[in-house]
Amino acid sequence: MNPIYTPIIIISVLVVVTLVVILIDRFLGGGGERKITINKDNVVTISGTETALNALTNNKIFLPSSCGGKATCGTCKFRLVDWHEPPKPTELPFLSKAEIEEGVRLSCQVKVESDISIEVPPSVLNVKPFFGKVIEVEQLTHDIRRVRFEMKEDFPFKPGQYLQIEVPGIETSRAYSIASDSKDLRHPEVIIRLVPGGVATKFIHKALMIGDTIKITGAFGDFFLQEESKRPVIMIAGGSGMAPIRSIIYKLMDQNMPRKATYFFGARTKKDLYYTDYFLDIAKMYPNFKYIPALSTPLPEDEWELDEGLITDVVRRHTEDLSGHEAYLCGSPGMIDACIKVLKEKGMPEEHIHFDKF
Ligand SMILES: Cc1cc2nc3c(=O)[nH]c(=O)nc-3n(C[C@H](O)[C@H](O)[C@H](O)COP(=O)(O)OP(=O)(O)OC[C@H]3O[C@@H](n4cnc5c(N)ncnc54)[C@H](O)[C@@H]3O)c2cc1C
Ligand code: FES
Repeated sequence: MNPIYTPIIIISVLVVVTLVVILIDRFLGGGGERKITINKDNVVTISGTETALNALTNNKIFLPSSCGGKATCGTCKFRLVDWHEPPKPTELPFLSKAEIEEGVRLSCQVKVESDISIEVPPSVLNVKPFFGKVIEVEQLTHDIRRVRFEMKEDFPFKPGQYLQIEVPGIETSRAYSIASDSKDLRHPEVIIRLVPGGVATKFIHKALMIGDTIKITGAFGDFFLQEESKRPVIMIAGGSGMAPIRSIIYKLMDQNMPRKATYFFGARTKKDLYYTDYFLDIAKMYPNFKYIPALSTPLPEDEWELDEGLITDVVRRHTEDLSGHEAYLCGSPGMIDACIKVLKEKGMPEEHIHFDKF
């Protein structure tokens, strides 16, 4: 072979290999460019194969993602338009039959391997990252603390909604209901229970200090006070579920408590109670407001003289026909499910029962 052809052959081989690599990359899910079209007219371009949740976050579109992408919260839903690959088994507990038929998926479980078109609630497009400086930390019980942040710009939210805190160093976020007055846009507060072995709560309880600044996104969530409603309100919470209810009560006080509102708070023993005197004092100031704290297993040394028993039994005892009421519930999944059953037994329509489980 004439040596003059050698470089030509080498270059040709290199060109063919490069083309093959590009094609594999494009069609078998390597690092090629892909487009995500959001709500028909907003397009972001990504490269590499990553989850839709990460791709959107990297492009400053913040879907809620309160478990940090572990498929345990179900908050990161979006709709895949014209692309009906069945959801993964990990998604099924969070999707209704109707949602599956409409193409709703958990964005943290969808890998972007080709161009896709998605629908998200328009409000999500307004969510942005904020930086909050810790200005107060208060230990409320042996395992619950309140943290107050100072924001450089307004952080608008509805009473009942939640924010997400990013744990520095591990780029994972967790959801925390906003516990403060929605009039104060510069100082959101959260109430956080230490979960044994928990990544975020260990950071918040053991490492976060006054003066630290952390990344916060929000506000998120469709659990919030129906401000225009005139229906009497039942509120039920346990543990750190106090957080969104506190914000809702601030709003009701702001409205001068125009409708009857009863707040049931369930705890095991006296050491799990907090803000008891605070809410009992509010009840003295507003005749329409009633506070009913209850202990399920009071200790003798608690010298507890108020309500005793499971919160479901306490609610049953203190209420009659609830068909004209609405409810706001926040606490563990087991507690919420049991309370919903009681409220329905008392005639409350399902569409008037609002809740956040965690
Ligand atoms: C909408 C929403 C609002 C929330 N608001 C609040 C709030 O106001 N205050 C608050 O304290 N928490 C709230 N949470 C829960 C919070 O987002 C975290 O899940 C929780 O703090 C645990 O995070 P972690 O990183 O410490 O635990 P992880 O590291 O995520 O979990 C560690 C271990 O604990 C288990 N675990 C996780 N969460 C719980 C739990 N709640 N109880 C028992 N075991 C658990 C996990 O399965 C895992 O085995 C909310 C959650 C949602 C979805
Ligand atoms: S982020 Fe929690 S399920 Fe997707």
